[in-house]
Amino acid sequence: MLAPSHTLDHHAVGTAYAKMSSYYDLLFEKVFDGGRQKLFQILPKDAPLKILEVGIGTGLSFHCYVPRWHVVGVDFSKAMLAKAVERQRKARPTARVDLLQMDAGKLAFPDDSFDACVAAYVISATPEPIKVLEEMKRVTKPGGSIILLNHFLTENRFVAWVERKISPWCVPMGFRTDLEMKPLLKSAKLDSCRIEKVNVFRLWRLIECRVSED
Ligand SMILES: C[S@@+](CC[C@H](N)C(=O)[O-])C[C@H]1O[C@@H](n2cnc3c(N)ncnc32)[C@H](O)[C@@H]1O
Repeated sequence: MLAPSHTLDHHAVGTAYAKMSSYYDLLFEKVFDGGRQKLFQILPKDAPLKILEVGIGTGLSFHCYVPRWHVVGVDFSKAMLAKAVERQRKARPTARVDLLQMDAGKLAFPDDSFDACVAAYVISATPEPIKVLEEMKRVTKPGGSIILLNHFLTENRFVAWVERKISPWCVPMGFRTDLEMKPLLKSAKLDSCRIEKVNVFRLWRLIECRVSED
């Protein structure tokens, strides 16, 4: 059973990222870049993929894209998305990139629209993670990949105790630290075909799930 986050609601997330947009890159660009690069390395560079990136934020993953891809990036924070638009204007990404303000829990795309759907550091920063995963699954073509890069509750019991304790304090900053991976994937009916520990102290996980073909 997935423990609910009682306080990470749309208002808290919206307020946090509106405030954080001006200094987000300063805090999170370099320290989390290794994970972003690994995420996009999973996808074939020579295929003309249509990719959905949910919670694209300020566009810190633009440099991981390659020319053959068409990336649609969505975020519900106007302020974060404005930074992504500015980045796109200053240094055009090599791929075609379309940016849209949208709630990933209510994606305005038909079923099976994308070859792959990715979310970097979003699932524990969103009020309804199961809904977001269900939507990602709905819009990904059968056989396509859903790739998540996220911090989940650690297996180590002491560290997990700390993560549970500090989670409410992280909510004003727009994320939680107590999200459990296995119940989440189970609730969203997703099976992982790859799990890799990444970033500093290997505390973040890169997870690939395939959307079944039946
Ligand atoms: C921690 S930031 C990650 C940004 C970026 N992906 C990165 O690699 O740095 C989380 C982002 O997810 C966005 N977000 C959270 N929930 C969302 C939702 N339901 N729909 C769209 N965007 C969402 C936030 O607005 C924020 O920009």
